[in-house]
Amino acid sequence: MSEPRSAQRLAGFGTTVFTEMSALAAEHGAINLGQGFPDFPGPDFVKEAAIEAIRADLNQYAPSHGLPRLREAIAADWATQHGVEVDPDAEVTVTSGATEALLSAMLALVDPGDEVIFFEPFYDSYVPQTVFAGGTPRVVPLQPPDWTFDHDALAAAFNERTRLFLLNTPHNPTGKVFSPQELKFIADLCIEHDVIVLADEVYERIVYDGSRHVPIATLPGMWERTLTINSTGKTFSVTGWKIGYVTGSAALQTALRTTHQFNVFATATPLQHGLAVALETAAEVGYYDQLKADYQERRDRLMAILGDAGLPPLPVQGSYFIMSDITGLGFANDVEFCRHLVTEVGVAAIPPSAFYLDPASAPLLARFCFAKQASTMEAAAERLQRLRA
Ligand SMILES: Cc1ncc(COP(=O)(O)O)c(C=O)c1O
Repeated sequence: MSEPRSAQRLAGFGTTVFTEMSALAAEHGAINLGQGFPDFPGPDFVKEAAIEAIRADLNQYAPSHGLPRLREAIAADWATQHGVEVDPDAEVTVTSGATEALLSAMLALVDPGDEVIFFEPFYDSYVPQTVFAGGTPRVVPLQPPDWTFDHDALAAAFNERTRLFLLNTPHNPTGKVFSPQELKFIADLCIEHDVIVLADEVYERIVYDGSRHVPIATLPGMWERTLTINSTGKTFSVTGWKIGYVTGSAALQTALRTTHQFNVFATATPLQHGLAVALETAAEVGYYDQLKADYQERRDRLMAILGDAGLPPLPVQGSYFIMSDITGLGFANDVEFCRHLVTEVGVAAIPPSAFYLDPASAPLLARFCFAKQASTMEAAAERLQRLRA
Protein backbone atom coordinates (compact mmCIF):
# COMPACT_ATOMS: atom_id res chain seq x y z
CA MET A 1 0.00 0.00 0.00
CA SER A 2 1.25 3.49 -0.75
CA GLU A 3 1.91 5.90 2.13
CA PRO A 4 -1.50 7.03 3.49
CA ARG A 5 -2.12 10.63 2.55
CA SER A 6 -3.59 12.95 5.18
CA ALA A 7 -5.94 15.76 4.25
CA GLN A 8 -4.37 19.04 3.20
CA ARG A 9 -6.06 20.87 6.06
CA LEU A 10 -3.61 19.13 8.42
CA ALA A 11 -0.57 20.66 6.71
CA GLY A 12 1.68 22.36 9.23
CA PHE A 13 -0.06 20.90 12.31
CA GLY A 14 2.38 18.20 13.35
CA THR A 15 3.76 17.40 16.78
CA THR A 16 3.86 20.46 18.98
CA VAL A 17 6.36 21.80 21.46
CA PHE A 18 3.92 20.66 24.20
CA THR A 19 4.52 17.03 23.22
CA GLU A 20 8.27 17.60 23.27
CA MET A 21 8.13 19.27 26.70
CA SER A 22 5.87 16.56 28.17
CA ALA A 23 8.23 13.84 26.91
CA LEU A 24 11.26 15.69 28.32
CA ALA A 25 9.44 16.26 31.63
CA ALA A 26 8.67 12.53 31.95
CA GLU A 27 12.22 11.56 30.97
CA HIS A 28 13.79 13.90 33.55
CA GLY A 29 11.25 13.38 36.34
CA ALA A 30 10.48 17.09 36.21
CA ILE A 31 7.88 18.85 38.34
CA ASN A 32 5.25 19.81 35.85
CA LEU A 33 4.22 23.47 36.04
CA GLY A 34 3.65 23.39 32.30
CA GLN A 35 0.39 21.71 31.45
CA GLY A 36 -2.76 23.52 32.49
CA PHE A 37 -4.64 21.18 34.75
CA PRO A 38 -5.02 20.75 38.52
CA ASP A 39 -2.90 18.11 40.26
CA PHE A 40 -5.32 18.16 43.24
CA PRO A 41 -8.63 16.30 43.48
CA GLY A 42 -11.96 17.73 42.34
CA PRO A 43 -14.60 18.34 45.05
CA ASP A 44 -16.34 15.33 46.62
CA PHE A 45 -19.86 16.69 46.11
CA VAL A 46 -19.24 16.76 42.36
CA LYS A 47 -17.60 13.34 42.12
CA GLU A 48 -20.27 11.70 44.29
CA ALA A 49 -23.04 13.06 42.06
CA ALA A 50 -21.49 11.40 38.99
CA ILE A 51 -20.95 8.12 40.86
CA GLU A 52 -24.58 8.16 41.98
CA ALA A 53 -25.72 8.79 38.41
CA ILE A 54 -23.80 5.76 37.15
CA ARG A 55 -25.25 3.60 39.95
CA ALA A 56 -28.74 4.89 39.15
CA ASP A 57 -28.23 3.61 35.61
CA LEU A 58 -28.23 7.02 33.97
CA ASN A 59 -25.85 5.59 31.42
CA GLN A 60 -27.54 5.87 28.04
CA TYR A 61 -27.30 8.64 25.42
CA ALA A 62 -28.26 12.09 26.62
CA PRO A 63 -30.23 14.38 24.30
CA SER A 64 -27.79 15.71 21.70
CA HIS A 65 -27.79 19.27 23.04
CA GLY A 66 -27.54 18.21 26.70
CA LEU A 67 -29.50 16.91 29.68
CA PRO A 68 -32.45 19.18 30.51
CA ARG A 69 -31.39 19.28 34.17
CA LEU A 70 -27.90 20.51 33.27
CA ARG A 71 -29.21 23.08 30.78
CA GLU A 72 -31.59 24.40 33.43
CA ALA A 73 -28.74 24.64 35.94
CA ILE A 74 -26.66 26.57 33.37
CA ALA A 75 -29.54 28.97 32.68
CA ALA A 76 -30.03 29.48 36.43
CA ASP A 77 -26.30 30.24 36.77
CA TRP A 78 -26.54 32.96 34.08
CA ALA A 79 -29.50 34.46 35.91
CA THR A 80 -27.73 34.58 39.29
CA GLN A 81 -24.27 35.56 38.02
CA HIS A 82 -25.22 38.06 35.33
CA GLY A 83 -28.94 38.76 35.66
CA VAL A 84 -29.53 37.37 32.15
CA GLU A 85 -32.62 35.25 31.41
CA VAL A 86 -31.51 32.31 29.27
CA ASP A 87 -33.92 29.83 27.67
CA PRO A 88 -32.52 26.42 28.71
CA ASP A 89 -34.19 24.66 25.76
CA ALA A 90 -33.19 26.94 22.91
CA GLU A 91 -30.16 28.86 24.17
CA VAL A 92 -27.87 26.28 25.80
CA THR A 93 -25.90 23.40 24.23
CA VAL A 94 -23.74 20.98 26.21
CA THR A 95 -20.53 19.92 24.44
CA SER A 96 -17.51 17.66 24.97
CA GLY A 97 -15.45 20.38 26.58
CA ALA A 98 -14.74 23.89 25.35
CA THR A 99 -12.49 22.48 22.63
CA GLU A 100 -15.37 20.70 20.91
CA ALA A 101 -17.57 23.75 21.42
CA LEU A 102 -15.02 25.93 19.62
CA LEU A 103 -14.62 23.55 16.69
CA SER A 104 -18.36 22.89 16.35
CA ALA A 105 -19.00 26.64 16.38
CA MET A 106 -16.31 27.30 13.77
CA LEU A 107 -17.57 24.52 11.49
CA ALA A 108 -21.09 25.88 11.90
CA LEU A 109 -20.28 29.51 11.15
CA VAL A 110 -17.11 29.85 9.05
CA ASP A 111 -16.95 29.42 5.26
CA PRO A 112 -13.80 29.10 3.16
CA GLY A 113 -12.36 32.56 2.67
CA ASP A 114 -13.80 33.93 5.92
CA GLU A 115 -11.46 35.53 8.43
CA VAL A 116 -11.43 34.89 12.16
CA ILE A 117 -9.83 37.56 14.37
CA PHE A 118 -8.26 36.81 17.74
CA PHE A 119 -5.58 38.22 19.98
CA GLU A 120 -2.02 36.90 20.05
CA PRO A 121 -0.80 35.07 22.14
CA PHE A 122 -3.75 32.70 21.71
CA TYR A 123 -4.97 29.37 23.06
CA ASP A 124 -3.33 26.71 20.90
CA SER A 125 -6.48 25.21 19.33
CA TYR A 126 -7.64 28.48 17.74
CA VAL A 127 -5.43 28.37 14.64
CA PRO A 128 -5.99 24.73 13.62
CA GLN A 129 -9.71 25.00 14.31
CA THR A 130 -10.01 28.11 12.14
CA VAL A 131 -8.09 26.38 9.36
CA PHE A 132 -10.10 23.13 9.67
CA ALA A 133 -13.23 25.21 9.10
CA GLY A 134 -11.67 26.72 5.96
CA GLY A 135 -11.10 30.12 7.57
CA THR A 136 -8.03 32.32 7.83
CA PRO A 137 -6.70 33.43 11.23
CA ARG A 138 -6.01 37.14 11.64
CA VAL A 139 -4.20 38.03 14.83
CA VAL A 140 -3.80 41.27 16.76
CA PRO A 141 -1.01 41.39 19.34
CA LEU A 142 -1.46 41.94 23.07
CA GLN A 143 1.49 43.88 24.44
CA PRO A 144 3.22 42.90 27.69
CA PRO A 145 3.44 43.62 30.55
CA ASP A 146 -0.25 44.52 30.94
CA TRP A 147 -1.34 42.94 27.65
CA THR A 148 -3.13 45.95 26.23
CA PHE A 149 -3.86 46.14 22.50
CA ASP A 150 -3.55 48.92 19.94
CA HIS A 151 -7.14 50.00 19.26
CA ASP A 152 -6.32 51.19 15.74
CA ALA A 153 -4.63 47.87 14.91
CA LEU A 154 -7.71 46.00 16.06
CA ALA A 155 -10.04 48.22 14.06
CA ALA A 156 -7.82 47.75 10.99
CA ALA A 157 -8.08 43.95 11.28
CA PHE A 158 -11.82 44.07 10.51
CA ASN A 159 -12.86 43.93 6.85
CA GLU A 160 -15.62 42.52 4.64
CA ARG A 161 -14.24 38.96 5.03
CA THR A 162 -14.32 39.03 8.85
CA ARG A 163 -16.82 36.44 10.05
CA LEU A 164 -15.89 35.77 13.68
CA PHE A 165 -14.15 37.45 16.55
CA LEU A 166 -12.78 34.91 19.01
CA LEU A 167 -12.30 36.49 22.43
CA ASN A 168 -10.75 34.71 25.41
CA THR A 169 -11.25 36.35 28.79
CA PRO A 170 -9.89 35.64 31.41
CA HIS A 171 -7.05 35.00 29.01
CA ASN A 172 -4.72 32.03 28.66
CA PRO A 173 -1.69 32.36 28.64
CA THR A 174 -1.43 35.99 29.83
CA GLY A 175 -3.83 36.04 32.80
CA LYS A 176 -5.44 39.22 31.44
CA VAL A 177 -9.07 39.98 32.26
CA PHE A 178 -10.48 42.32 29.59
CA SER A 179 -11.90 45.52 31.07
CA PRO A 180 -15.48 46.72 30.40
CA GLN A 181 -14.01 49.54 28.26
CA GLU A 182 -12.00 47.10 26.14
CA LEU A 183 -15.04 44.84 25.77
CA LYS A 184 -17.15 47.81 24.66
CA PHE A 185 -14.55 48.74 22.01
CA ILE A 186 -14.53 45.16 20.68
CA ALA A 187 -18.33 44.90 20.82
CA ASP A 188 -18.78 48.15 18.88
CA LEU A 189 -16.48 46.91 16.11
CA CYS A 190 -18.35 43.59 15.92
CA ILE A 191 -21.68 45.37 15.68
CA GLU A 192 -20.38 47.84 13.07
CA HIS A 193 -19.01 45.02 10.88
CA ASP A 194 -21.81 42.53 11.63
CA VAL A 195 -19.39 40.00 13.10
CA ILE A 196 -20.26 37.08 15.39
CA VAL A 197 -18.32 36.66 18.65
CA LEU A 198 -17.13 33.38 20.10
CA ALA A 199 -16.38 34.18 23.74
CA ASP A 200 -14.12 31.60 25.35
CA GLU A 201 -14.72 32.24 29.07
CA VAL A 202 -13.57 28.94 30.57
CA TYR A 203 -11.76 30.74 33.44
CA GLU A 204 -14.79 32.90 34.32
CA ARG A 205 -14.70 31.91 38.01
CA ILE A 206 -10.94 32.28 38.47
CA VAL A 207 -10.20 36.00 38.90
CA TYR A 208 -8.10 37.89 41.45
CA ASP A 209 -7.75 41.08 43.48
CA GLY A 210 -11.36 42.08 42.94
CA SER A 211 -11.09 41.84 39.11
CA ARG A 212 -14.53 41.31 37.63
CA HIS A 213 -15.23 39.04 34.70
CA VAL A 214 -17.82 40.55 32.36
CA PRO A 215 -19.21 38.31 29.59
CA ILE A 216 -19.17 40.27 26.33
CA ALA A 217 -22.60 38.74 25.58
CA THR A 218 -24.07 40.96 28.32
CA LEU A 219 -23.13 44.22 26.54
CA PRO A 220 -25.93 46.03 24.66
CA GLY A 221 -26.60 44.50 21.25
CA MET A 222 -24.29 41.53 21.84
CA TRP A 223 -26.53 38.66 22.98
CA GLU A 224 -27.83 37.91 19.47
CA ARG A 225 -24.33 37.81 17.98
CA THR A 226 -22.39 35.96 20.72
CA LEU A 227 -21.86 32.33 21.63
CA THR A 228 -20.29 32.10 25.08
CA ILE A 229 -18.23 29.00 25.81
CA ASN A 230 -17.61 27.67 29.30
CA SER A 231 -15.98 24.53 30.63
CA THR A 232 -16.96 23.00 33.91
CA GLY A 233 -13.58 21.24 33.90
CA LYS A 234 -11.83 24.43 35.05
CA THR A 235 -14.46 25.55 37.56
CA PHE A 236 -14.77 22.16 39.24
CA SER A 237 -11.17 20.97 38.74
CA VAL A 238 -12.22 17.92 36.71
CA THR A 239 -10.65 18.73 33.33
CA GLY A 240 -10.76 15.05 32.33
CA TRP A 241 -14.56 15.04 32.35
CA LYS A 242 -14.56 17.21 29.23
CA ILE A 243 -17.99 18.78 29.64
CA GLY A 244 -18.35 22.26 28.22
CA TYR A 245 -21.35 24.34 27.32
CA VAL A 246 -22.32 27.09 24.95
CA THR A 247 -24.85 29.79 25.75
CA GLY A 248 -26.28 32.17 23.16
CA SER A 249 -29.17 33.05 20.90
CA ALA A 250 -31.42 30.36 19.40
CA ALA A 251 -30.41 31.16 15.81
CA LEU A 252 -26.71 30.61 16.52
CA GLN A 253 -27.51 27.51 18.59
CA THR A 254 -29.35 25.91 15.67
CA ALA A 255 -26.20 26.13 13.55
CA LEU A 256 -23.96 24.91 16.36
CA ARG A 257 -26.23 21.98 17.23
CA THR A 258 -26.05 20.72 13.65
CA THR A 259 -22.27 20.33 13.65
CA HIS A 260 -22.28 19.11 17.26
CA GLN A 261 -24.92 16.46 16.45
CA PHE A 262 -22.96 14.92 13.58
CA ASN A 263 -19.65 15.17 15.36
CA VAL A 264 -20.07 13.89 18.94
CA PHE A 265 -23.87 13.58 19.01
CA ALA A 266 -24.06 13.67 22.83
CA THR A 267 -21.76 14.02 25.84
CA ALA A 268 -21.29 11.55 28.73
CA THR A 269 -24.63 11.29 30.56
CA PRO A 270 -23.50 10.55 34.15
CA LEU A 271 -20.93 13.34 34.04
CA GLN A 272 -23.62 15.76 32.88
CA HIS A 273 -25.62 14.72 35.94
CA GLY A 274 -22.57 15.30 38.10
CA LEU A 275 -22.17 18.81 36.75
CA ALA A 276 -25.87 19.61 37.04
CA VAL A 277 -25.66 18.81 40.75
CA ALA A 278 -22.39 20.76 40.97
CA LEU A 279 -23.96 23.90 39.49
CA GLU A 280 -27.10 23.51 41.60
CA THR A 281 -25.10 23.14 44.83
CA ALA A 282 -21.86 25.11 44.43
CA ALA A 283 -22.96 28.60 45.46
CA GLU A 284 -24.89 27.41 48.46
CA VAL A 285 -21.93 25.45 49.90
CA GLY A 286 -19.59 28.42 49.32
CA TYR A 287 -17.61 26.52 46.68
CA TYR A 288 -16.97 29.46 44.31
CA ASP A 289 -15.63 31.73 47.06
CA GLN A 290 -13.35 28.97 48.27
CA LEU A 291 -12.15 28.24 44.70
CA LYS A 292 -11.22 31.91 44.25
CA ALA A 293 -9.53 32.17 47.64
CA ASP A 294 -7.53 28.97 47.05
CA TYR A 295 -6.38 30.11 43.61
CA GLN A 296 -5.50 33.55 44.95
CA GLU A 297 -3.26 31.89 47.55
CA ARG A 298 -1.65 29.63 44.92
CA ARG A 299 -1.11 32.56 42.56
CA ASP A 300 0.53 34.66 45.29
CA ARG A 301 2.79 31.77 46.30
CA LEU A 302 3.95 31.00 42.76
CA MET A 303 4.52 34.72 42.03
CA ALA A 304 6.80 34.82 45.09
CA ILE A 305 8.58 31.60 44.13
CA LEU A 306 9.25 32.82 40.59
CA GLY A 307 10.37 36.24 41.82
CA ASP A 308 12.82 34.60 44.25
CA ALA A 309 14.19 32.41 41.48
CA GLY A 310 15.03 35.42 39.28
CA LEU A 311 12.03 34.91 37.00
CA PRO A 312 10.03 38.14 37.52
CA PRO A 313 6.32 37.41 37.05
CA LEU A 314 4.02 39.67 35.03
CA PRO A 315 0.73 40.73 36.65
CA VAL A 316 -2.08 38.13 36.63
CA GLN A 317 -5.76 39.10 36.94
CA GLY A 318 -7.37 35.78 36.07
CA SER A 319 -6.87 32.14 34.90
CA TYR A 320 -4.27 29.88 36.52
CA PHE A 321 -1.18 30.89 34.56
CA ILE A 322 1.75 33.21 35.22
CA MET A 323 4.08 34.58 32.55
CA SER A 324 7.62 35.19 33.78
CA ASP A 325 10.20 37.44 32.21
CA ILE A 326 13.27 35.47 31.08
CA THR A 327 15.19 38.27 29.37
CA GLY A 328 18.65 38.66 30.79
CA LEU A 329 19.08 34.93 31.47
CA GLY A 330 21.09 34.48 28.29
CA PHE A 331 18.75 32.23 26.31
CA ALA A 332 18.16 32.84 22.61
CA ASN A 333 14.46 32.06 22.88
CA ASP A 334 11.82 30.64 25.22
CA VAL A 335 12.06 27.08 23.83
CA GLU A 336 15.75 26.96 24.65
CA PHE A 337 15.03 28.25 28.16
CA CYS A 338 12.24 25.72 28.76
CA ARG A 339 14.44 22.86 27.52
CA HIS A 340 17.14 23.96 29.96
CA LEU A 341 14.61 24.31 32.78
CA VAL A 342 13.24 20.82 32.35
CA THR A 343 16.52 18.99 31.73
CA GLU A 344 18.89 20.86 34.09
CA VAL A 345 16.58 22.23 36.78
CA GLY A 346 13.81 19.61 36.74
CA VAL A 347 10.83 21.94 36.33
CA ALA A 348 8.58 22.01 33.26
CA ALA A 349 7.11 25.24 31.86
CA ILE A 350 5.59 26.13 28.50
CA PRO A 351 7.34 28.37 25.94
CA PRO A 352 4.66 30.92 24.97
CA SER A 353 6.08 31.34 21.45
CA ALA A 354 3.89 28.29 20.71
CA PHE A 355 0.96 30.70 21.05
CA TYR A 356 2.17 33.03 18.27
CA LEU A 357 1.68 32.71 14.49
CA ASP A 358 5.31 33.75 14.10
CA PRO A 359 7.15 32.27 17.12
CA ALA A 360 10.12 34.57 16.46
CA SER A 361 7.90 37.58 17.30
CA ALA A 362 7.12 36.31 20.82
CA PRO A 363 8.52 38.24 23.81
CA LEU A 364 10.99 36.35 26.02
CA LEU A 365 8.68 34.78 28.60
CA ALA A 366 7.83 31.39 30.10
CA ARG A 367 4.37 30.23 31.20
CA PHE A 368 3.91 28.52 34.57
CA CYS A 369 0.68 26.93 35.82
CA PHE A 370 -0.33 27.23 39.47
CA ALA A 371 -3.27 24.81 39.49
CA LYS A 372 -0.98 22.77 41.71
CA GLN A 373 -0.88 21.54 45.29
CA ALA A 374 1.28 23.44 47.78
CA SER A 375 3.68 20.47 47.95
CA THR A 376 4.20 20.56 44.15
CA MET A 377 4.93 24.29 44.22
CA GLU A 378 7.32 23.99 47.19
CA ALA A 379 9.22 21.18 45.45
CA ALA A 380 9.45 23.38 42.36
CA ALA A 381 10.63 26.31 44.52
CA GLU A 382 13.52 24.23 45.82
CA ARG A 383 14.59 23.15 42.36
CA LEU A 384 14.23 26.64 40.91
CA GLN A 385 16.93 27.83 43.31
CA ARG A 386 19.33 25.94 41.00
CA LEU A 387 18.66 28.61 38.42
CA ARG A 388 20.31 31.13 40.74
CA ALA A 389 23.34 28.89 40.95
C1 LIG B 1 -8.58 29.30 26.89
C2 LIG B 1 -8.98 27.88 26.85
N1 LIG B 1 -9.99 27.51 26.05
C3 LIG B 1 -10.38 26.24 25.97
C4 LIG B 1 -9.77 25.23 26.71
C5 LIG B 1 -10.22 23.81 26.54
O1 LIG B 1 -11.14 23.44 27.50
P1 LIG B 1 -11.73 21.96 27.55
O2 LIG B 1 -10.76 21.12 28.31
O3 LIG B 1 -13.03 22.10 28.24
O4 LIG B 1 -11.89 21.47 26.15
C6 LIG B 1 -8.70 25.57 27.55
C7 LIG B 1 -8.01 24.52 28.34
O5 LIG B 1 -6.89 24.68 28.78
C8 LIG B 1 -8.30 26.93 27.63
O6 LIG B 1 -7.29 27.29 28.41
